[in-house]
Amino acid sequence: MSPATVLVIGATGAIGSALVDTLLPDHQEGRLRLAATTRRPDAAARMRDHGVEVRHLDLDEAETAGLQAVRPAFAGVDRVFLLTGYDVRMLAQAKAAVDAAKAEGVGHVVHVGVSAAEDTTIVHFAWHQLVEAYIERSGLGHTHLRPASFMQNLRLSVGTPGVLTHFVGEARPNWVDVADIAGVAATVLRDPGPHDGRAYDLAAEAASLSEIAELLGDVLRRPWRYESAEPQVFYDAMVRAGADPVYMACVRNVFERTRNGSLIEPDGVFGTIEAVTGRPATSLREFLERNRELFSGHPGRTATRESPSERRS
Ligand SMILES: NC(=O)c1ccc[n+]([C@@H]2O[C@H](COP(=O)([O-])OP(=O)(O)OC[C@H]3O[C@@H](n4cnc5c(N)ncnc54)[C@H](OP(=O)(O)O)[C@@H]3O)[C@@H](O)[C@H]2O)c1
Repeated sequence: MSPATVLVIGATGAIGSALVDTLLPDHQEGRLRLAATTRRPDAAARMRDHGVEVRHLDLDEAETAGLQAVRPAFAGVDRVFLLTGYDVRMLAQAKAAVDAAKAEGVGHVVHVGVSAAEDTTIVHFAWHQLVEAYIERSGLGHTHLRPASFMQNLRLSVGTPGVLTHFVGEARPNWVDVADIAGVAATVLRDPGPHDGRAYDLAAEAASLSEIAELLGDVLRRPWRYESAEPQVFYDAMVRAGADPVYMACVRNVFERTRNGSLIEPDGVFGTIEAVTGRPATSLREFLERNRELFSGHPGRTATRESPSERRS
């Protein structure tokens, strides 16, 4: 029997690039066939150099050219990893991807949403839940991944060396390493059967920014401190940098409500990563130890949770 074909959408982004790296040995050793999508020729060339089949996919083309514009990317695919970016267009993009996957006979979709209460009123969290509901209605096999705040976002909190700037006051958000999200996704994509119909909240631990600044001080052996800033500062910086104002207003609301205590993280979620992958989740301390260089030198941007990732490819 020929190996299953896995298509990674968002392969150039934070989670997707980690997922491609994780699945490369499976591809190279013939356990599955890896295909990935991008709109960017430079990124396509780099992935092809690693032996990955690259397909062009711009989900926005479905709006102007119909579903047939995106269907070819899904042809012959058995399993899809579906991720969208930090943009209100995520709704139409995800719908087009699900419709195209169904039309092309895909068997299973692994979708990246967000960790949130089922009855959340945070607007973009609700969008993710509506996408999940649409996937369920499609009849496709599916697994929902629901990550907490990415630990990788913390590097964007470094403006002045030694100072972490963030927008949630003294609240204690949940955190997850992107590599662990990729690890869970890879486990499901290798063998979706046991994970069909399941939803996984992904988080390693909760910590305030003051606690993280203290950890950083320990790891880098010099003092760090947390500086609390207004969520509007985040919004203004992101919109100035070209991010979608509709999506970023939602993120500003997350910060406001995390800070005022009206947004509570789901509980009972810290064991999921180990339960799925068999490996313990990366703790914040381990993450900072493995990624010292992100915090040891140059200033980042004034942005953090849910901000667009720097490109990795
Ligand atoms: N940051 C957080 O703390 C956090 C927490 C929980 C959940 N999330 C969720 O994680 C997701 C973002 O993950 P990420 O950080 O890995 O994203 P990312 O780094 O911003 O990457 C986005 C990817 O989407 C692709 N893409 C964008 N527009 C596209 C289009 N029109 N057609 C096809 N592909 C398109 C891009 O591909 P090309 O540019 O190569 O075409 C890129 O690879 C969001 O859904 C967000 O809500 C984030």
